[in-house]
Amino acid sequence: LRLILLGFGVVGQSFVKLLLSHSTDLYNDYGIKPKVVACADHKGIVSCNPGLDLDRLLNVKKKKRSVIQYGSNTDTSGIFDVIENTDAEVVIELTPTNITNGEPGKTHIIAAMKSGKNVITVNKGPLALEFPSLMELAEYNRIAFKFSGTVGGGTPILEFAKRCLRGDRIISFEGILNGTTNYILSKMYEGLNFTQALRDASEKGYAEKDSTLDIDGYDAVAKLVIASNLVMNMKSTMSDVVRTGIRDVQPTRVMNERKKGNAIKLIASCDGKNLVVKPKPVSIKDPICVDGILNAVTFTCQHSGQQTIIGKGAGGMETASSILRDLIDIRNMIRS
Ligand code: HSE
Repeated sequence: LRLILLGFGVVGQSFVKLLLSHSTDLYNDYGIKPKVVACADHKGIVSCNPGLDLDRLLNVKKKKRSVIQYGSNTDTSGIFDVIENTDAEVVIELTPTNITNGEPGKTHIIAAMKSGKNVITVNKGPLALEFPSLMELAEYNRIAFKFSGTVGGGTPILEFAKRCLRGDRIISFEGILNGTTNYILSKMYEGLNFTQALRDASEKGYAEKDSTLDIDGYDAVAKLVIASNLVMNMKSTMSDVVRTGIRDVQPTRVMNERKKGNAIKLIASCDGKNLVVKPKPVSIKDPICVDGILNAVTFTCQHSGQQTIIGKGAGGMETASSILRDLIDIRNMIRS
């Protein structure tokens, strides 16, 4: 399985580390022997038909800051040339989320689909802005389009709803979809201040490159849009969501709710019509009242009642594990 990696930040590098540490399992359990034939970061792209040396790629990125310093036997031609003309089965799009116009991820994804390559992305921007048209393009080009890590990081929230709850009708869902704000609110519950908690979350690599996306609720909005399209077949976009972030949540409010047995959480909810992201008090006995970077979503189903999935919603390795999951699915699809 030949892979093109577009974006080589925390998640991209974690994914390559996973490939290195899981190579035996991937081959023995799933018959996959992945080769990274090209890798791009913000400075350019390197490609190598027999496959890049992954240890060296990681080292170059760490020491010289960009993959373009990889070596002389590499091709540093344009990114679209590589997407279109390199023999590869899967393009993995990992550039930072841009919720204004989805770029550069959107154009990368479209180019990959048009050249008949399967696509995996954890980039929320393109899907939050253009979910229906990207799904249509994937279908038209008969390629697999997987985006498990866009919602829940490493926690398979989308698959849980789509696969585990199949056959039942999901009436509504609500929960915590942003790890950074949950981390901050959890620290505030313990008495820490907002700024310190945000610095902590950024240092740990949970926050978006532009942390206002987390704080002002846009990241949760993007995930709510993706989930509502996939799970409830809504044709929603970001502007359909009523949004309030956590910037104005005062420590006194957090402490007052604490006395009543509640915690303030940034809750994203969808009832099939209305989409809302806002901070609100949640009883500490409610299963979605989880701490730290955890995400939790309760799906209310017509027959099976309420089902809650909980897990880490951010982090390099966690999110990288979702890419591996998607890759195994694509391998199985190609095989069948
Ligand atoms: N910044 C995001 C979060 C990363 O905190 O949830 C995972 O999408």
